[in-house]
Amino acid sequence: MASRTLSAQEILLVRNYMAEAIGVSIGENKAYLIDSRLSPIVTDTGARDLLDLIAKAKADPTRRLHDRIVDALTTHETFWFRDERAWTALREAALPSLVTAFRASGRAKFRIWCAACSTGQEPYTLAMLIDTLCSEGRLGGLTPAQIELLATDVAPDTLKAAAAGQYNAIEIQRGLADVWKNKYFAPVPGGDRWAIAESLRRRVTFKRFNLQDDPSTLGRFDFILCRNVAIYFEESVRHQLFRRLHTTLQPDGLLMLGGSESLLGLADLYATETLGGSLFYRRRSAPAAPGVKPPATPSATAARPLPAPSPLPSVPGRR
Ligand SMILES: C[S@@+](CC[C@H](N)C(=O)[O-])C[C@H]1O[C@@H](n2cnc3c(N)ncnc32)[C@H](O)[C@@H]1O
Repeated sequence: MASRTLSAQEILLVRNYMAEAIGVSIGENKAYLIDSRLSPIVTDTGARDLLDLIAKAKADPTRRLHDRIVDALTTHETFWFRDERAWTALREAALPSLVTAFRASGRAKFRIWCAACSTGQEPYTLAMLIDTLCSEGRLGGLTPAQIELLATDVAPDTLKAAAAGQYNAIEIQRGLADVWKNKYFAPVPGGDRWAIAESLRRRVTFKRFNLQDDPSTLGRFDFILCRNVAIYFEESVRHQLFRRLHTTLQPDGLLMLGGSESLLGLADLYATETLGGSLFYRRRSAPAAPGVKPPATPSATAARPLPAPSPLPSVPGRR
């Protein structure tokens, strides 16, 4: 199938299918991407073309074909400590601020949701950071047992890879300094792979979740990371998502976005805060006063003012 040109009808059908299923907007000019990612599935299933493939997916009660299509057409680019300055800001300013609010609340569990976790580098980065901070007594006396870390994604095979916590030689070195690798990973016997420490792997709960669905089923969170996923949604879908996330954040909870993302147009729900030199979004409990200025768009100067916070610890404490 890769050798023939897709019809406009096929492209439109696939684009509509993805937008309806998971909110992802695939550009009109992405025929090559659709073709290259779906043709192996067309071949495997014996479908005549993409119209036939989507018809089969809709008729499949097991949803397996649907899952394969979703996995194939979503972008899973991720790496360790992605946007390192934001992680430094998280360690130095955002987490301490959240822990202070949590302590004042009297609640038993500090809950974090990593809302589009891809193959796991983001939640495991967080787990490593939290483990190190807890063991150094730098998280307000919290212990890992008091912290719940939920990681979700809509793509099932991607989520399976995340839960397995094993990475090949290329994946492991993307953004991960040796000090972290040596402390939290071990080589998998007989292969060119690295496995995250079992104690850390077990601290993250992986669950399939479509960000188009109602998140109230997941409970409320002190902190939500929703990074580099809303960029794939149309503006109206993006706004609906951030309105839903607002309902699932604790009062004064924080939202962390990707380095190129912002919450323009949602100043009634979130207040922009610069913590440790990076932008975070604080849940507003009451609508903002009329005339309140919308959050600024992150830019090289506004979003990341100098001086920069100190870098992440080069040598995490050994236990
Ligand atoms: C580019 S990755 C970002 C991973 C990570 N957050 C990061 O910043 O490195 C985007 C992820 O969003 C997931 N995704 C796309 N649409 C989604 C939806 N509707 N619900 C949940 N996850 C979704 C994809 O499967 C993919 O793993």
